[in-house]
Amino acid sequence: MKNFQYYNPVRIVFGEGQIEQLSELVPTDARVLITYGGGSAERTGTLAEVREALATNGDRKVFEFGGIEPNPEFVTLLKAADIVNENNIDFILAVGGGSVLDGSKFVALVSSLKEADGTVSRDKAWEALISYTKNLDSAVDLGAVLTIPATGSEMNSGGVVNYSERQAKLPFGNPLAFPKFSILDPAKTLTLPERQVMNGIADAFVHVMEQYLTYPVNAKVQDAFAESLLKILIEEGPAVKQDPNNMETRKNIMWTATMALNGLIGAGVPQDWTTHMIGHELTSLHNIDHARTLTIVLPSVLRELKDSKKDKLIQYARNVWNLSVEDADIQDEDALIERAIRKTEDFFRELGLPVSLADAELDETAIDPIVTQLEAHNMVKLGEHNKNDLEVSRRILERAVMSKAS
Ligand code: NZQ
Ligand code: ZN
Repeated sequence: MKNFQYYNPVRIVFGEGQIEQLSELVPTDARVLITYGGGSAERTGTLAEVREALATNGDRKVFEFGGIEPNPEFVTLLKAADIVNENNIDFILAVGGGSVLDGSKFVALVSSLKEADGTVSRDKAWEALISYTKNLDSAVDLGAVLTIPATGSEMNSGGVVNYSERQAKLPFGNPLAFPKFSILDPAKTLTLPERQVMNGIADAFVHVMEQYLTYPVNAKVQDAFAESLLKILIEEGPAVKQDPNNMETRKNIMWTATMALNGLIGAGVPQDWTTHMIGHELTSLHNIDHARTLTIVLPSVLRELKDSKKDKLIQYARNVWNLSVEDADIQDEDALIERAIRKTEDFFRELGLPVSLADAELDETAIDPIVTQLEAHNMVKLGEHNKNDLEVSRRILERAVMSKAS
């Protein structure tokens, strides 16, 4: 295991009906900006609950900003940041999924980057984004009410912002962006369309894989934990598809997705975010849902890098899929690894997710523009060994054109 520091200050408030805790969690004299997405929070009644809780206990001034898009748009977020400044907001309350949470973190970080006329500077905010926001040293306080289990944004300090004009979808991270608290009410996930539920399971699955499927460093806690999270998702994905109203299933999915990307399983181990970085380009060029880009790319990443990931792939096959070279129909380690990758693809397919570019109605002509964008965004040394250059990414994408028959 490598040396590490683990720090996570987010208070998690988990359970049905917990939105009412906002009356205690948000400072009673705060000037609050509620941020939300395209309308689901209003439609489902979540916003009404939030407003009611904030009106209880104290003298808060409450403002609202709606319209943060899935894959939150840079330009929209700057408008929210102006509202923060115009109204002297000192607490942002994000109500929604990963996009609203990420976007609100970005707003919290960049609202102090002003022009002489007091508006938030596009140039400075863009500079901040391309430098991962790591040089920013102040942020507005932020809390979250999560309505979709997927990204882990509720318990981490990162986010992803999309800047369509520049065809760039870029990650950022800064410890100041940790939410002060996140409310996780599993009942809030019952209104999600099935597609979003399945997306969430896939996103969490791939988060675990990118922190687990590298090379062994004898990190027993992280490995066992990661394998358990994967097995839970493999069990609960089909379960929620079959019985969407089962609250116990919803609870387990929600907590699993949070644990998949709150830093715990990634502490002290190598990580490989190749799938995410290629996936971001697919979203930005072709507007494919985040999780769907991942299920398209991951199987090809595993196949292309199977030599450098061999030990972990064998461990994955054995501990997650209960496969073994002793099995009658598995001749050798190569066959074992291929079987585990196919099991992974079958799992994604069962949830209705694409596993190839063809499944997303793209062909080999999609590859060049993606590689060009990877280069433009300096994604030229990806992977746990920093060896995945543009040629490796190209080969991964070539493998992803057609899916293998299951
Ligand atoms: O916009 P509204 O109307 O709210 O609708 C949303 C949206 O259309 C809807 N929705 C959310 N909660 C709902 C609901 N509909 C009905 N009932 C509810 N309870 O779901 C749609 C998708 O929402 P979105 O927030 O985009 O989904 P998700 O949580 O999957 O977030 C995806 C974003 O997170 C980023 C992705 O890149 C993407 O931009 N990620 C953030 C990460 C992080 N912060 O650590 C890591 C991830 O790898 C990921 O990259
Ligand atoms: Zn993700």
